[in-house]
Amino acid sequence: MTKLGVCYYPEHWDESLWESDARRMADLGLTYVRIGEFAWSRIEPTEGKFAWDWLDRAVEVLGAAGLQVVMGTPSATPPRWVVDKYPDMLAVDADGRPRKFGSRRHYCFSHEGYRKEAARITAVMGKRYGQNDHVTAWQIDNEYGCHDTTISYSPMAASAFQDWLAQKYQSTDALNRAWGNVFWSMEVHDFTEIDLPNLTVTEANPAHLLDFRRFTSDQVVRWNKAMVDALRPHTDAPLIHNYMGRITDFDHYKMGADLDVAAWDSYPLGFLEDRIEMDEDFKARYAQQGHPDFQAFHHDLYRTIGKGRWWVMEQQPGPVNWAPFNPAPLDGMVRLWSLEAAAHGAEAVCYFRWRQAPFAQEQMHAGLLKTDDTPARAFVEAGDVATDLKALGALEQEQASVALIFDYESQWAWEIQPQGQGFDYFRLVFKSYKALRQLGLNVDILSPETRDFTGYKSVIVPGLFHLPPDLVTALQESEAHIVWGPRTGSKTSEFKIPTPLPPAIPGLEVAVSRVETLRLNNPRALKAGGEAHLWIEELDHNKMHVVEETVDGAPIAVSAGKETYLGAWLGLNTRRRFFKAELLKAGVKTREMPEGLRRRRVKGKEFLFNYGAEDVEFDGLNIPAATAIIRT
Ligand code: GAL
Repeated sequence: MTKLGVCYYPEHWDESLWESDARRMADLGLTYVRIGEFAWSRIEPTEGKFAWDWLDRAVEVLGAAGLQVVMGTPSATPPRWVVDKYPDMLAVDADGRPRKFGSRRHYCFSHEGYRKEAARITAVMGKRYGQNDHVTAWQIDNEYGCHDTTISYSPMAASAFQDWLAQKYQSTDALNRAWGNVFWSMEVHDFTEIDLPNLTVTEANPAHLLDFRRFTSDQVVRWNKAMVDALRPHTDAPLIHNYMGRITDFDHYKMGADLDVAAWDSYPLGFLEDRIEMDEDFKARYAQQGHPDFQAFHHDLYRTIGKGRWWVMEQQPGPVNWAPFNPAPLDGMVRLWSLEAAAHGAEAVCYFRWRQAPFAQEQMHAGLLKTDDTPARAFVEAGDVATDLKALGALEQEQASVALIFDYESQWAWEIQPQGQGFDYFRLVFKSYKALRQLGLNVDILSPETRDFTGYKSVIVPGLFHLPPDLVTALQESEAHIVWGPRTGSKTSEFKIPTPLPPAIPGLEVAVSRVETLRLNNPRALKAGGEAHLWIEELDHNKMHVVEETVDGAPIAVSAGKETYLGAWLGLNTRRRFFKAELLKAGVKTREMPEGLRRRRVKGKEFLFNYGAEDVEFDGLNIPAATAIIRT
């Protein structure tokens, strides 16, 4: 059964409040309370001098109320003395400027001194609380990558990158060949001659950029692994990291392999304003509900990253402070978001935060309680959710019939080489996800390392930068109907155009002979209705069945057997029509959902979520706005 929790900062409040806070949390039906992740300056005010008494008492008070503590390690907020000890630990931005002390996440993942310091405080906390009965889970650091903090152009990053390249290529000849450095006389003769790819006159070599992004991702994964190694000897409790929405700067699958549970922080209204490219009308329509597919996409992604175990570590409870506009959720949405997470298999949903802080950066961010300690709107809804979850009991997840492959490296590659404004890999995959959900489907998101596709009727592979031959074989040997492209397999892993021409999929006699990108106001009309936008490929094929073509008769999707290659970025309605027809071939039953309504099926139950601001009719049911209903 999904449990509820809350994020709490005992160090922000007078100790006289702790007991009643703990009691009220328990009375509300919460199980977990996450603490500690920003408290370093109160745990170790000066180097080596620890002040544990307050934290010991906080854990005791919370535990005595029957709550389970999720202990956060505080490495996202190194205090001033740490920065004074290592003045060069600050990350450096693309313009070469160090990012200052005075907020959070002010460190470079390549700084060895800080990594050791962070591992030390992590181990010290592990020693102190690893065997404490009240501490039943751990969160390592906080939101890697938040505030653009993954990529750093520091001197430490530069020398670590040179080492990484030396290990990868062994010789500069091999590197020059792989990158194509003969172009523009970029050849190097020693690894120390390789610089970071910022501040170049015009674009840097895409192969150089991609290796830098791979290196950067590896640094984050390695950094986290050092924290896991510091903590693991002291506790058997699950080790968790709270990832984010649409943060793609490091390979979450790789990091997930080192952790026990994946968590993510879900702020549906903040994300709609801040992180999703939709037009003004759409944003106005969903301003108080959030995008109907964004949360679900991440639930499905993190279920895979957590190898089946995942949480929402922070759930938006009311207006936040950080988006361009910060409306309040419609009444009912906090319940809807929480139940949607449960329907996707979350083990826990924790609200951020218990009481709104009257001071510092987030004073305009709602909590379950207002600053004066009286309940905010979400307090009531959290109580309703606790009752709902009890009534629901355990939910059993089912494998979806349709899977979508999502890959971090492809995100980096197409950020480096979009070729047309607006071509973004996340968008491409997310739009496919959205179309599938509009067809009423459960969707599983899979890593590109997946080789076992048993049970899937269809697998969709959009925009996968590099197509490993064993992935192609595994997919072709499975039962699944495969939809490839656009842009899938269009480069080698070294960021070159392959010969034979892409997609070069054995058995498919199709080659992409030319690519065009289109202005947003200049789409190309399709014979079957609708249009292609942004990206359109010229497909040379031999006797393949033409699935879609432009009004001028240029094929843009062709098929043979159980595979279809799509060579264009389709508009949303066109994409839905296209997938519907493809899925019919795969024997997948679809059901067009009314605008704003989404469903999720688990064993024996169906959840219906109305993200709309108006009631909808579905199967003779009236589903009120901002409401989740469950039917068996
Ligand atoms: C998250 C972060 C929290 C808090 C919250 C505000 O990104 O982990 O510490 O800042 O946002 O919405």
